[in-house]
Amino acid sequence: MKRLVLSLTFWMPQVLAGEVEVLHYWTSGGEAKSVAYLQKRLADAGVNWKDFAVAGGGGENATTVLKSRAISGNPPSAAQLKGPSIAEWGELGFLADIDDVAAAGKWDALLPDVVADAMRYADRYLASPVHVHRVNWVWANAQVCKVAGARLPVDWNDFFVQAGKLQAAGFIPLAHGGQAWQDATLFETVALGVGGAEYYQRAFVELDETALNSETTLKVFDVFGQIRRLIDSNASGRDWNLATNMVIQGEAGMQLMGDWAKGEFSVAGQQAGLDYLCAPAPGTNGAFSFNVDSFAFFVQSDPAAQNAQKTMAREILSPEFQEAFNLSKGSIPARLDMPTATFDACAQASMADFADAADAGTLVPSFAHGMAVSEAVSGAIFDVATNYFNSSATPEQGVAELVSAIKASR
Ligand code: GAL
Repeated sequence: MKRLVLSLTFWMPQVLAGEVEVLHYWTSGGEAKSVAYLQKRLADAGVNWKDFAVAGGGGENATTVLKSRAISGNPPSAAQLKGPSIAEWGELGFLADIDDVAAAGKWDALLPDVVADAMRYADRYLASPVHVHRVNWVWANAQVCKVAGARLPVDWNDFFVQAGKLQAAGFIPLAHGGQAWQDATLFETVALGVGGAEYYQRAFVELDETALNSETTLKVFDVFGQIRRLIDSNASGRDWNLATNMVIQGEAGMQLMGDWAKGEFSVAGQQAGLDYLCAPAPGTNGAFSFNVDSFAFFVQSDPAAQNAQKTMAREILSPEFQEAFNLSKGSIPARLDMPTATFDACAQASMADFADAADAGTLVPSFAHGMAVSEAVSGAIFDVATNYFNSSATPEQGVAELVSAIKASR
């Protein structure tokens, strides 16, 4: 018996390369397909995947669950974290260092600066970047546009003209889900389109009070408020992917949403340029609001668990993963050296625009997707955006609320 136990202990670690318990919120059609691919890659590398999915677009629910698990001393081994929150968790000592994986993979050379910077805290890599999503997109059903005589809008005046045509032809002009993060996403897109990248940077990244309390912000709230009448009466609480589905089904003409929406068009078998159309959101041509998804790793004492985390960090940056995952997710690769040929026209445009925007200084972090400001500040902006959008408040009231909420949250 003793001999058997001994030989089993000797044998087991070689078979089990370790396990990762992964907390994520990728549960829509396109998201789930992408996650299944990550899971398979890890299985091929000998790592067992323990799934901990917390549904809820934008990840608010997942973040709440993550906090309660971490506080009770039981964090998962990997979780979706992004932007400034990586540094916040790093500073609290929760995250494991994956610097050796990054050094061996030459991540400093492979990754764009804005991506690499968001992954590091105190000069060490604490997270592995999956991809770059662009937030400022407009999507449309090609057939619906044809029937209504509408086209993709180039600026906000044009947006209301095209929306009017869709409405007159009996379609819902804009598919929207009334959840705080979706209201904030819409608000962000309007702010970038109305004010431009420089204004956006000053107001929503630097939180400059003069930029916030300005005529431009008044115009932003004015446009944002006018959109209230272009959505249907069942929007409240609707998930973003159900809104995308309204465009896919031809019930609605357009959706303003990040390119994770493209994952839904793809799983529905639709093709870019044929069944659906994409363009930078109104007024945002040349600007790029970026949203980088990444996995961070929580400190583990078991060497097999640490090994599994490092395998996951390494696999995520492999060229095969960067291609296959991003094809189904709708995003573009985090690596700069990837071939573009297999990507569709929307993704190819996104890759070119990302590089151009970085050169032109019009690449801005998304505040609605956790890239720009602390959670406290983004929470305050979410509240103002959603309260405003779901009321008949005036633009003047919107500006006043925004200025005071941001001030109080800092
Ligand atoms: C974003 C996230 C995307 C996508 C979306 C909807 O915040 O970065 O990957 O999942 O939410 O859930």
